[in-house]
Amino acid sequence: MNESIIKTISVAFAVCLICSLVVSTAAVSLRDQQKENKLNDRRIKILKVADIYNPNLSIAEQFGSLESKFVDFNTGIILDEYMNLDIEEYDQVLVTKNPTMATKVPTSEDIAIIKNRENIGKIYILRDELKNIDKVILPIRGYGLWGTLYGYISIEDDFNTVSGIEFYDHKETPGLGAEVDNPKWKSSWKGKKIYKNNEVALKVIKGKVETDDLQGSYKIDGLSGATITSRGVSNMVEYWFGSSGYSLLLKELNYES
Ligand SMILES: Cc1cc2nc3c(=O)[nH]c(=O)nc-3n(C[C@H](O)[C@H](O)[C@H](O)COP(=O)(O)O)c2cc1C
Repeated sequence: MNESIIKTISVAFAVCLICSLVVSTAAVSLRDQQKENKLNDRRIKILKVADIYNPNLSIAEQFGSLESKFVDFNTGIILDEYMNLDIEEYDQVLVTKNPTMATKVPTSEDIAIIKNRENIGKIYILRDELKNIDKVILPIRGYGLWGTLYGYISIEDDFNTVSGIEFYDHKETPGLGAEVDNPKWKSSWKGKKIYKNNEVALKVIKGKVETDDLQGSYKIDGLSGATITSRGVSNMVEYWFGSSGYSLLLKELNYES
């Protein structure tokens, strides 16, 4: 009787041990693959927002047609170098945890609820055949209802017109806030204008933009049943295109072009 209990426990223990070994080996060996998949997923979003994604071509090759650059938020100046960091490895969200590389956003200004903003951002530039800037792709992030939404906006070479928007990570509810991924809604951003009289004017409104609205180029339809997510997206546009975000960069680029 005793022996059979010991046997049962031993077999159960052995089964547990083997299973845990299998699971941990799988987890460790798949970690690199998962990291790679996540990176590729983000790269696809960047290629999509730049409107150059071709699913039949290699992601790495297509991504090579974009220039990755650092940007100093305090001056709006594009930098080729920053602390000897490899730009492809630089994670501007991760560095916000390092107080020497990020600045606390004063609560009164933190409309996107990001808490800390990186001192140096990371942007992507798409150039035309003449090597002039065709589009700039700018990372944005901000709080929705359930968490932070992370995405990209691409801007045309007038540095005011939206070319596209994509989110690569968020926690919003499918069918409600997650409609930020709805292709029809995303395509409604194309051609919209960010600034009016040097102020951020583009907003996600509550309800639908009237077709005869003279201010329609500054308005995006609200997501129905998701007013909080819609407001979150509006706030992140206001923050990231404001004076703490990309407004200095976009002014600099406009002077240069
Ligand atoms: C389970 C559940 C999930 C929800 N998810 C979202 C969401 O992702 N985004 C959002 O703005 N509102 C979401 N809401 C609704 C909000 O609580 C709130 O009612 C809504 O934003 C108000 O929008 P409306 O004025 O368009 O109805 C959710 C509600 C429930 C019950």
